[in-house]
Amino acid sequence: MQMFDGDVVLILGGGSGLGLGIARHCVSEGARVAIFEISEAKIVALKGEFGDDVLLFRGDVTSPEDLLACRQAIVERWGRLDSLIGSQGIFDGQVPLRDVAIERVPSLFDELFHVNVLGYILACKVFLELLEESNGSIVLTASVAAYAADGGGLMYTATKGAVVSAVRQLAFEFSPRVRVNGVAPGAIADSQLQGPRSLGLEGFKQSDIPKDAMLNTFRKLTLMSELPTPLDYAPIYAYLASRYNAVVTGQTVLLEQGALNRAALSGPGATGGIGV
Ligand SMILES: NC(=O)c1ccc[n+]([C@@H]2O[C@H](COP(=O)([O-])OP(=O)(O)OC[C@H]3O[C@@H](n4cnc5c(N)ncnc54)[C@H](O)[C@@H]3O)[C@@H](O)[C@H]2O)c1
Repeated sequence: MQMFDGDVVLILGGGSGLGLGIARHCVSEGARVAIFEISEAKIVALKGEFGDDVLLFRGDVTSPEDLLACRQAIVERWGRLDSLIGSQGIFDGQVPLRDVAIERVPSLFDELFHVNVLGYILACKVFLELLEESNGSIVLTASVAAYAADGGGLMYTATKGAVVSAVRQLAFEFSPRVRVNGVAPGAIADSQLQGPRSLGLEGFKQSDIPKDAMLNTFRKLTLMSELPTPLDYAPIYAYLASRYNAVVTGQTVLLEQGALNRAALSGPGATGGIGV
């Protein structure tokens, strides 16, 4: 039994990291998959991996024209869309507001909110009718940063909080035919999450951080020992996006590896002691 059975799934930002893991998982679960991705280099790599099995569309999620052209390509190839999964995003470099020059604050805001929020809103608007026709499902990506301080800088954190609120409102507006949910991941191994152009940090990628340093920090902050990979998160996205999800809408599922449930009086993994 497969999760999708030929359903058509579109993944935004599926060129690397989380979205690519979700795409691989959806293919293995019998979905017909389309990937919308801004990076030409990633599209070329995806072509090498998937050939013509996956519809690869190069576009910018902040462009209504690109999204409309993608919709046209999906309609021409399959005539339907069952699930929309948003996994594009950029990071703000975790720069504290006090360190951002005042003249750069508006451009940093615009850049982060355009990709991380407007992109999801535009895609929901563009694909709504197709999703209504199929009684489909939407899953958007927030972050643990929406629930705890220091998962990013102010702009990143604010965009992820906006995604959580957008999920609730969209679930209300699109009911009863389209379910809308969010996933708020914690750490992700193999992420290429990029910094912002507006701070000159577009060359910085999460994958530049040494793996040992990432893992050490992760172990200190969570209750788990290994960094989750995109494939570890993918089944939860797939479930929410699939027809098996007949009960969840308007929720954002927080997948934080216990980061918000550390012991109050002792370190991770410690037992006994002076517990109260
Ligand atoms: N990396 C983490 O630790 C982490 C933690 C929590 C949440 N997230 C979120 O998970 C999602 C996926 O991030 P990732 O870590 O896999 O990073 P990633 O950079 O590997 O994947 C994001 C993809 O989105 C693409 N993209 C960026 N801007 C785009 C645009 N304008 N139009 C179309 N595509 C665009 C990128 O090229 C990239 O392929 C993001 O929303 C991110 O905020 C990441």
